[in-house]
Amino acid sequence: DPSVAPAELLRSPLLEAHDGVGPAEGLPLPRALYGAERPNSAGADPTCLDSRQPLATAIATTRLDPVPLASQADVADAMQRLSQGWAGWNHRPVDERAAVLRRAADALEVRLPEFCGLLVKEAHKTLGDAISEVREAVDFCRYYAQQAQARLQPQELPGPTGERNTLRLHGRGVFVCISPWNFPLAIFTGQVVAALVAGNAVAAKPAEQTPAVAARMVALLHEAGVPADALALLHGPGETTGAALVAHPATAGVCFTGSTAVARTINRALAAKDGPIVPLIAETGGLNAMVVDSTALPEQVVDAVVQSAFRSAGQRCSALRLLCLHEGVADGILAMLRGAMLELRLGDPADWATDVGPVIDDEAFQNLQTQIARLRREAALIGETPLPAGTAVPRLIAPVAFELSSVAELQQELFGPVLHVVRWSGDPAALVAQINALGYGLTFGLQTRIDSRAERLAAQARIGNVYVNRNMIGAVVGVQPFGGEGLSGTGPKAGGPHYLYRFCAEQCVTINT
Ligand code: NAD
Ligand code: ALA
Repeated sequence: DPSVAPAELLRSPLLEAHDGVGPAEGLPLPRALYGAERPNSAGADPTCLDSRQPLATAIATTRLDPVPLASQADVADAMQRLSQGWAGWNHRPVDERAAVLRRAADALEVRLPEFCGLLVKEAHKTLGDAISEVREAVDFCRYYAQQAQARLQPQELPGPTGERNTLRLHGRGVFVCISPWNFPLAIFTGQVVAALVAGNAVAAKPAEQTPAVAARMVALLHEAGVPADALALLHGPGETTGAALVAHPATAGVCFTGSTAVARTINRALAAKDGPIVPLIAETGGLNAMVVDSTALPEQVVDAVVQSAFRSAGQRCSALRLLCLHEGVADGILAMLRGAMLELRLGDPADWATDVGPVIDDEAFQNLQTQIARLRREAALIGETPLPAGTAVPRLIAPVAFELSSVAELQQELFGPVLHVVRWSGDPAALVAQINALGYGLTFGLQTRIDSRAERLAAQARIGNVYVNRNMIGAVVGVQPFGGEGLSGTGPKAGGPHYLYRFCAEQCVTINT
């Protein structure tokens, strides 16, 4: 059956996260970590060419059907249905809700080629990125199922006064989940299944650019056992459909991932509402830096920079935006980086040889073109990847790097394959203070062979995810909990042990025995 994933495509993301960094043999696999029943596929040969055929078939046959846009009346109807359905879902034992997530994970694994087809066609993901994203969505389902069973059961507390005290966690009501286009399956699924397994009903609003993958995932979740009145999908623009969901009186919580500007808009809208105080979980953008000192290994630095700045066409919130090179090693590393950028291949995301595919849409393409033109006028060009001659692939932005004269010159997140470079000397703590002053705190890279320096600078950085001597993308669920602070978000970290608590209300029942 060409729509079914062969075992070798289900290779663990843990192995992938360590590609180029060190041997991954002997690492525990996510399935072992998340307690899955079936044996993992780590023994399969990941280079097996036969595994490519199901993907090629899936991509060739993928159709992006139009989706219905939600009217204001649809929003009102859905919120009423979810408000009524919530209690039934919330009262199901947590083990039952977790079992639904595991069924969804199993189905998603089997249907990996189909979802990869959607990700390549709708979000223009390269094949490597598409496979990683399906695996991440599977991991979110399994991890939150395991976490719910471990953390959301009623707890008996001490009763020193002779009373019986029980702490219970339950869903808050209808949670609104609003997601971006850049991980239209993994982030969408992670938000929705976390809210569901914690006992909430969910109104999900995916990004306008990627409705089809969300629609297919919601259908899969319903088939896995999520009741129709516990999960509704509402397509439409953020400014209308998203805003109506946020403003609705039945909204008990909002989980948002996207730009810092939209997080602020939602925060203001919630603050202006009458009625209960509605919590907001916001995961937003970053101005992510990597600091390279004079002891760093140049080959390792260049590999980490290429992966972090240009993979996924730079359309990751975690992506490297500002490379800070010690002046003693800067020229040598920049010469190697220039060479590496010449080797990158831009092109069709469905071609296995492609390193960098198109950006998401015409608006992003135009915006990046404008910003790159500005940088060509204002900054020194370091290097760029050549566009393939006569390509028919639209919206390709060639990876490009510019030198700035100071950290403070970097003022906005350019969501594409655009790298800024600065040189530094003197005290690295002063450099980290400048990076902290940018106000964002999502990811941070350090390249040094001085362990004490790595420890000290990591502790100084007010940044959620710090990566030392490796790339700074691709956080693994349950292993590298992901999320930032400051302008990069409110926390809690997705794929981490504290995430589910924020979707719950707590009740302490004290019985005078
Ligand atoms: P965006 O903020 O434009 O849109 C995100 C979502 O918000 C979309 O579904 C959109 O329709 C909706 N929206 C827009 N206006 C709204 C409003 N007024 N009310 C309610 N909803 C509204 O972001 P994007 O362009 O889709 O994604 C890129 C951004 O997301 C980047 O800034 C990136 O750094 C960030 N991001 C952050 C993380 C993270 O985990 N921190 C992960 C991925 C992406
Ligand atoms: N979780 C994604 C990463 O780490 C955004 O790259």
